[in-house]
Amino acid sequence: MTDRYAVVGHPIEHSRSPVIHAAFARATGEQLTYERLLAPLDGFVATVEAFRRAGGRGCNVTLPFKEEAFRYAGAHTDRSARAATVNTLKFDGGGVLVDNTDGAGLVRDIESNLRVGLGGARILLLGAGGAARGVIPSLLDRRPAQIVVFNRTAQRARDLAGAFAGTVRARDALTPADRFDIAINATAASLSGAAPALPAGLLAHAALAYDMVYSRDGTPFMRRAREEGAAVVADGLGMLVEQAAESFFLWRGVQPPTAAVLADLRAA
Ligand code: ATR
Repeated sequence: MTDRYAVVGHPIEHSRSPVIHAAFARATGEQLTYERLLAPLDGFVATVEAFRRAGGRGCNVTLPFKEEAFRYAGAHTDRSARAATVNTLKFDGGGVLVDNTDGAGLVRDIESNLRVGLGGARILLLGAGGAARGVIPSLLDRRPAQIVVFNRTAQRARDLAGAFAGTVRARDALTPADRFDIAINATAASLSGAAPALPAGLLAHAALAYDMVYSRDGTPFMRRAREEGAAVVADGLGMLVEQAAESFFLWRGVQPPTAAVLADLRAA
């Protein structure tokens, strides 16, 4: 009996998750299939329910349904409750376990793959949407010195920081004198070929500039970080693979190897 999994989103055809989970299944010998499910914008719950009834064992959730998935009835893991966004559902008997593996995927990529420490770091988090919110709990668990949230629309940054305890602070403006060890771009700017507006030289002293979007040629934020001299510059492909591995583990109880899958995706 082959277990079925899927990624639900709109649009969905660009998703690389089926390739990643197929590679994990091959590497671990787990018997499963993983498909793409296009949900109508007003039909997330109906799509998920139909997949469950058809024997689905779990799914990943991507844009624009990560907040709606949080409201989907189920037992939340602590990290997904704190993030108030969800990327993984597990169907167990009659119940649903609701999780968010994005933050753990980001932390694993930064610490294990890129070998940059988050403990004690001054982190600049750009953006205040679901992508930013989703990773804050896992970043906080690594005990950074501070997480400064900066967003084009300042009020959204204040609202987001207000949802977390003291380590997370919003800033209405940044100055060239600001120093951050790690800058993480969680805005959607890269998707429209832009970079968030930042003071010149802000990234020059960064040990890591990380764009959560993945991009073969590098995003405008990454190009700027390279020009300014950030020590390590990375896109979000590693986070994508690592969050998939966390979901796979939640579903199957088996930790898949990620390095070879990440290398294959980079080479493809
Ligand atoms: P997501 O779930 O991807 O986080 P979202 O909730 O729509 O999506 O949030 C998108 C984020 O990207 C926001 O922080 C947005 O800034 P605003 O709150 O000011 O809209 C940010 N963003 C999108 N395009 C941007 C751009 N060109 N420059 C800077 N920030 C941008």
